[in-house]
Amino acid sequence: MLLERKSAVITGAGSGVGRASALRFAKEGALVVCTDIRLQWAKETVRQIEAAGGVAIPQECDVASEQDVAATVAAAVERFGRLDIMFNNAGIPAPRRGKTIEDHTIEEFERITSVNLRGVFLGCKYAVAQFKKQGDGGVILNTGSVAGLVGLGDTIYGATKGGVHQLTRGVAIECAPFGIRVNAICPSGMPYTTNFTAAGGTEVPPDALEQYAERVGSIHPLGKPIRAEDCAEAAVYLVSDRAANITGVLLPVDGGYVAR
Ligand SMILES: NC(=O)c1ccc[n+]([C@@H]2O[C@H](COP(=O)([O-])OP(=O)(O)OC[C@H]3O[C@@H](n4cnc5c(N)ncnc54)[C@H](O)[C@@H]3O)[C@@H](O)[C@H]2O)c1
Repeated sequence: MLLERKSAVITGAGSGVGRASALRFAKEGALVVCTDIRLQWAKETVRQIEAAGGVAIPQECDVASEQDVAATVAAAVERFGRLDIMFNNAGIPAPRRGKTIEDHTIEEFERITSVNLRGVFLGCKYAVAQFKKQGDGGVILNTGSVAGLVGLGDTIYGATKGGVHQLTRGVAIECAPFGIRVNAICPSGMPYTTNFTAAGGTEVPPDALEQYAERVGSIHPLGKPIRAEDCAEAAVYLVSDRAANITGVLLPVDGGYVAR
């Protein structure tokens, strides 16, 4: 098992990439704190982990709240004795995707930056503090996006993810002397297996979802849609000791999209 008895916090673990990763981490022996702003969704992830024989606890956490993030790290330490892995995954799309820059309100800008960027900052801050207290390294994984690597036209969202990428590299360099590794996965569009498209207000009828996913997938050189499980596989690798000498990496999970 790649993550045997490792204590791992995953934010946004109630859906999509977070849930797929929580299930995958638990299968590798991790003890998972499944956090989400939607406690019921986190509880459902815990139920699925326990049904598969794994160990997990739910925790309500809005990543934009410093108090919630601090309490989440404390909960991991209280329940599992320490923190080994912090996966800052929670993120939201810009409302009404494709809005032009002049259409975004200050309130929308502040909400998306407070979840996508401040949330990752807080996750890194409290994880690093705990790792330094423990004194034997630690692992952080952040969820970025191809939208932070190239200009996709989803400008405000892309800017928050570009910030996540720079935080990833910056904290990786700053914390390397402490044996703390920090990496990011950068998924391409995942129109199904996540609730992200719906969270952005794009309505795709359930019976049209697969066709929509195929269309999005066709923009990737590999020609297939990206699934939450593809991200979970990349995540398990990066947080495991197999990646012991890898830090500061932004790993696209995108079927080759940004390689062009
Ligand atoms: N789905 C995509 O197309 C796509 C593409 C690239 C990157 N991403 C990124 O992947 C990550 C995971 O998203 P997903 O695709 O699994 O979407 P999702 O909507 O299925 O899951 C996101 C989860 O985060 C939770 N969440 C929302 N706001 C939160 C907050 N303030 N605090 C804590 N939890 C919160 C939601 O309740 C949900 O469970 C995000 O960072 C997203 O930006 C998604």
